[in-house]
Amino acid sequence: MMSPRKKLGPARILGIETSCDETAAAVVEDGRLALSNVVASQAEMHAKYGGVFPEIASRQHIKVIDSVVKEALSQAHLELADIDAIAVTRGPGLPGSLVVGLNMAKGLALGSRKPLYGINHLEGHLYSAWVGLGEVNGNPPQFPLLALIVSGGHTELVLMKDHLSYQRLGGTLDDAAGEAFDKVARLLGLAYPGGPSIQKAAESGNPAAFSLPRAWLPGTWDFSFSGLKTAVLHQIRALAPDEDPSKLPTADLAASFQEAVVDVLVGKTQKALDEFGAKEVLVAGGVSANKALRTRLQADLKVPVHLPPLALCTDNAAMIAAAGYYRHSLKRAPFSGLEMDIEPGWAL
Ligand code: KG4
Ligand code: ZN
Repeated sequence: MMSPRKKLGPARILGIETSCDETAAAVVEDGRLALSNVVASQAEMHAKYGGVFPEIASRQHIKVIDSVVKEALSQAHLELADIDAIAVTRGPGLPGSLVVGLNMAKGLALGSRKPLYGINHLEGHLYSAWVGLGEVNGNPPQFPLLALIVSGGHTELVLMKDHLSYQRLGGTLDDAAGEAFDKVARLLGLAYPGGPSIQKAAESGNPAAFSLPRAWLPGTWDFSFSGLKTAVLHQIRALAPDEDPSKLPTADLAASFQEAVVDVLVGKTQKALDEFGAKEVLVAGGVSANKALRTRLQADLKVPVHLPPLALCTDNAAMIAAAGYYRHSLKRAPFSGLEMDIEPGWAL
């Protein structure tokens, strides 16, 4: 009797992400090559609230998840039967949003009898630096690696000595870096999401126009951005007591704020690099799309810096599929199977 043949060839993982306001699905080959990356953003729907409105987010995920997954398979020219495993964001995130993606993934896994992996959204952001769209993203990051996650919900410095291994060094004590961009953009009367708006406004501004505070928090690997946000608010009140944003030197304020954030992020990463002797640096999460930050990281740090492609900095499912690939191929899957539940407050 012939023994069943082991499947040869690349491993393809279908990733699903619905932790916040993006409904996303993607297929990634061997953890490094995105064959498709579909992201349905709800940003416009939340813009008038200046942030994500959870009830609207979960309803919208329900409306589009089915077609987003179909589109991801179709763009990859694959069917569910060709997929080796399914990876889904299990947390952290908005409960009503997470549950939509998880239930979709469970249904697909059950129907197709594929393995299912529950992925931490922050682990996903880290693995976004391994992935390229249409081609792999340069050389793979080398361990030990110092990683900085800068997103709307998190600012974390993490030491990775190997795949799927995380030693948290520190993180924000108050606002996350992206949250600070969003809140300051709102103060300046700029559109949500604030990061891209501030980056654009800052292009024509002078980063030295205003002297804003930098919270170095010496002796820790933590961050704090709420004092900076308050300093911007005080400047605004002094410049436009009637709170009319049209009277503000918006470009100079945006550039000075952006410079203060970049100084601290790059400065503390450099210090941690000296202390822990990591070989390389990886920066991921929505704020890693910031042009000023990318330029300064490449210019100031003396080791190779890995960044995700721009399209994979903000939330996407290719990063979830990439993390899923390493959990699948390294056989490290503590969070798997149909019985798993969402984990809205899950730390890395
Ligand atoms: O990673 P992400 O998509 O969602 C979370 O997991 O939170 O990050 C979203 C955050 C938002 O706060 C947004 O303002 C910020 O990333 N962001 C940026 C830029 N693009 C997005 N911040 C600074 N500069 C950018 N170009
Ligand atoms: Zn994210």
